[in-house]
Amino acid sequence: MIGVIGGSGLYEIPGFSIIDKIKIETPYGDPSDVFIMGSIGERKVVFLSRHGQHHDIPPHRVNYRANVWGFRTLGVKRIIAVNAVGGINDRYRPGDIVLPDQIIDFTKTRAQSFYDGPRVVHIDFTEPYCKEMREAFLSIDEQIINGGTYVCTEGPRLETAGEIRFYKSIGADMVGMTQMPEAALAREATLCYLCIAVITNYAAGISRTKLTTTEVVETMKKSTERVKQLLSSAIDLIPSERHCICKDSLKDAEL
Ligand code: HPA
Repeated sequence: MIGVIGGSGLYEIPGFSIIDKIKIETPYGDPSDVFIMGSIGERKVVFLSRHGQHHDIPPHRVNYRANVWGFRTLGVKRIIAVNAVGGINDRYRPGDIVLPDQIIDFTKTRAQSFYDGPRVVHIDFTEPYCKEMREAFLSIDEQIINGGTYVCTEGPRLETAGEIRFYKSIGADMVGMTQMPEAALAREATLCYLCIAVITNYAAGISRTKLTTTEVVETMKKSTERVKQLLSSAIDLIPSERHCICKDSLKDAEL
């Protein structure tokens, strides 16, 4: 089963039929929302809105552990996350879609792991995103930008121009607030994880104007149709068996 984490409206993917809505309780508390179960063609798909259906959970307050745990409980093996990001790389334009291949984590206050002791686990995170899913998505749309480094900030404030200059100098291509610890928790849970990043704005200091959430939401809205199309065609191409390293993440990882 495939999980999709995103904003509202994604259940309107062409061909997606809703079968059920399930509330899950987890040892880590409540997930952001109910899980919407459905299917695309032959594939079972589960959707979760990261910020809740009323968009009332800010990035630093999302219960990332409960969300990932909920997907796992439902039998999800792969998660596709849709993220709005600010563009740092000079080549990016608002509306571009990037599949990042690296992450730099600048979050500060979030629960980072399912393993807070007595079990001590250090997963390998050299390649944070599932190679097999990245290949499936890249094969259907040549316009998708292949690779890039996502720097994850704590938020909820946007960055200073100085911070963006620094992030650029250390190799970041885009900035957002929600990939961490989500991606790492998925790996700890032995799930495959992919990020579809939509460039919604130029990052602070690159943009000549003040950054606004209206700009982010408007660009995201304009890109929704493309993201939906991408999801519905790519999901078909993901092999049913997993051949990637994600499923074996706990092998040789525990002390
Ligand atoms: N910074 C951080 N997060 C974001 C941005 C940004 O510029 N745009 C969309 N999410």
